[in-house]
Amino acid sequence: MAILSLIKTPDEFLRKKSKKVEEFDARLGLLLDDMSETLKKAHDGIGLAAVQVGFLKRLFIVDYGGEYIEFINPEILEHSENKLNYEACLSVTGREGYVKRPRKVTVKWQDRFGEFHERQFKGYISYVIGHEFDHIEGVLFIDKLVEKPKKNVTEAEAE
Ligand code: CO
Repeated sequence: MAILSLIKTPDEFLRKKSKKVEEFDARLGLLLDDMSETLKKAHDGIGLAAVQVGFLKRLFIVDYGGEYIEFINPEILEHSENKLNYEACLSVTGREGYVKRPRKVTVKWQDRFGEFHERQFKGYISYVIGHEFDHIEGVLFIDKLVEKPKKNVTEAEAE
């Protein structure tokens, strides 16, 4: 396995839309293994999209409590109302901030063998999936920053 180098802003590559994965072959497995290795080494990272390491493929990996889930050709079938989430990104140095994301998502995706899965995710993992899904569309969290909520304003009111 290899550590891949991270593409960072303002590189326009991050703005490209990724393409559907058609081949579920050994090369795909190798890319996913390398991405896992890369994410493991990036200590504060919890998700990584292929575009961030130079591949315009619709896939990302997410650290789900120590277990990596590989989302290939993901589709968000349903989502709840938005909540504020404080975010950062391995591809964006020196900026963090609040973004609105659904706190619950139902995702359909394929694994590295091409098998389909469907599942609902709640809470923090839902925000991570939203962030990574944006990457495959060429969208970054810095495009969606909102003002820090004032004291005594609930998340619902801040929407
Ligand atoms: Co990111």
